[in-house]
Amino acid sequence: MSDKTLIREKYDSTAGIYNERYGDIQEEKYHQMLQDISIKKPVLDLGCGTGMLKEFLKVPMIGIDISFEMLKKSKEKNVLGDIEKLPFKDNSFATILSFTAIQNLDSADAALLEVKRILKQKGTFVLTVLNKFEGKLDAVEKYFKIMEMKICGEDVGLVLTSDK
Ligand SMILES: C[S@@+](CC[C@H](N)C(=O)[O-])C[C@H]1O[C@@H](n2cnc3c(N)ncnc32)[C@H](O)[C@@H]1O
Repeated sequence: MSDKTLIREKYDSTAGIYNERYGDIQEEKYHQMLQDISIKKPVLDLGCGTGMLKEFLKVPMIGIDISFEMLKKSKEKNVLGDIEKLPFKDNSFATILSFTAIQNLDSADAALLEVKRILKQKGTFVLTVLNKFEGKLDAVEKYFKIMEMKICGEDVGLVLTSDK
């Protein structure tokens, strides 16, 4: 079984308890990373899970996630898909957000290239990853300019811009 199938199954099987177990933890990360950020539309949430970020920000956004069961918990319609192969046109989004998702990838390179492709010029990309997987962020500087780096709870977070 591929890594992605295992990851999808892991999140499918825990979707029912996800918000209760992680809701407060994730909300604290959203608050810490986004309090000073101007969220320009259109907005994309990569690895949106159960859609808690959209509920927190109360801003229209598209979410994409590989786990159908996580998406089913979302109050809004989102897209079932893979961060490494995004079904969006070039230069589509002014803001791209991703909380605690890319540690699930073998390497962040393919995802970062995809984000660079679909992020508009002067766009903002806010990305967090569980801090024990911080090494997955090494490739970020190849594609984006780092505006800010923060510890947020159990994650390391970066505020990035496409201007590179
Ligand atoms: C820890 S959860 C975080 C969910 C959400 N961002 C939040 O703040 O609650 C990680 C999410 O990433 C999704 N995910 C993992 N690998 C993915 C991939 N290759 N493409 C899309 N989503 C993926 C999982 O299904 C899961 O919903």
